[in-house]
Amino acid sequence: MSLTTYAEVRPWAKAIKHQVLTRRMPPWGAVKGFGAFRNDRSLSLPEIALISSWVEGGAPEGDREFATPFHAHDGDEAERQAGRMRVRGAHVLKRPILAAGVSVGASVRVPWLQVSAHRPDGSVEHLLWLREPRPPGMLDYWFLRPLALPAGTRLVCQPGSAQVDVRFADEQAVSGRPGGQPLPAE
Ligand code: HEM
Repeated sequence: MSLTTYAEVRPWAKAIKHQVLTRRMPPWGAVKGFGAFRNDRSLSLPEIALISSWVEGGAPEGDREFATPFHAHDGDEAERQAGRMRVRGAHVLKRPILAAGVSVGASVRVPWLQVSAHRPDGSVEHLLWLREPRPPGMLDYWFLRPLALPAGTRLVCQPGSAQVDVRFADEQAVSGRPGGQPLPAE
């Protein structure tokens, strides 16, 4: 069903309140505070409170003059060109990469999923924690900032039966791009 206009949304107001209060909608799944993502579409607490009180207040139509234009996250060039590295269990990097995100496929059927990167110097980056990944579950989690990971870094995906694609740009390719600037890394 479409929820893009007031007329389409109004009959569903009560259900919408329930969906956002239980955080079932919009589907996102990543545990807060574990990684940071630029396409995070989950709602903030003030947004949830706003929707909930709008429904309680009779779900009135707003002033069209203040309506924000509708736009979807289409992804940028860097996201489209990002390579994929399959990680099932553990995978040790043979060359440095700039990790850009994690893609979780629709076939993942596990009660929870965690992805982390263990650098050779002992530092650990927590990349993603999903609770109850469920179909369609096909989602790309793009990091707020690309992460420089040296050769020898161990990428770990748990539980061992699950697999994800770590999305990356080749560090050499990025810094050697004609006229290109290396992406800022932490
Ligand atoms: C009556 C209330 C709603 C119902 C029954 C509903 C149902 C669904 C279903 C069945 C799906 C696809 C399967 C899934 O991911 O579980 C979906 C996807 C989605 N819903 Fe809802 N939804 C509701 C309200 C909302 C609201 C209020 C939002 C935003 C605040 C929202 C945002 C989304 C988004 C972003 C997707 C994913 C679309 C995509 O990836 O293409 N939904 N919804």
